[in-house]
Amino acid sequence: MSEPQSYSRLQIALHWLIAVLIVVAWFTGEGAGEAMKVVEKGGVAGFVPHVALGLSILALVVIRILVRLSRGAPAAPGAPGSLGVKAADWGHRLIYLLMVAVPLGGASVFFLGLEVGEVHALAANVLMLVVLGHAGLALYHQYVLKDGLLRRMMKAE
Ligand code: HEM
Repeated sequence: MSEPQSYSRLQIALHWLIAVLIVVAWFTGEGAGEAMKVVEKGGVAGFVPHVALGLSILALVVIRILVRLSRGAPAAPGAPGSLGVKAADWGHRLIYLLMVAVPLGGASVFFLGLEVGEVHALAANVLMLVVLGHAGLALYHQYVLKDGLLRRMMKAE
């Protein structure tokens, strides 16, 4: 895969838009079990924001993955092949996997009636934890190692 020197404007916009939507979706997912009981009785209003957010996230993540596959991304900082670079690459793959799996799990509950609500909630919590670690590491790079990593996700060069 090609390795551009920076993220494109589209990649940066998708990163922050999806990040905000995921955090909001996580908070609106609280109490989703209760809302699902209402859905079973025929009411959907309480569930609409969470479902709309989840489907938007899924669509944006699919676009993001297609852009990532066609354009590539700058190499993680550090010696190529080093443990840190491998960990960053696998960490990002895990986030992509969870960003697809979590909304798909939610959609299976809502549209197909599959009883995977607990798996969906658990995977969403794992995604939040991984993302917190991801954000913490980004801040560590920016403010402790001072290698300007965060700038790569703020401005297309
Ligand atoms: C729900 C929230 C978030 C998600 C799902 C997310 C996801 C991702 C993913 C998948 C990548 C890899 C991009 C690629 O190379 O293909 C990435 C990169 C990055 N993210 Fe996030 N992110 C989130 C929040 C944040 C936050 C809060 C920060 C900063 C505090 C941050 C900073 C960065 C930086 C600096 C990169 C670029 C790393 C590099 O250049 O190697 N992200 N993010």
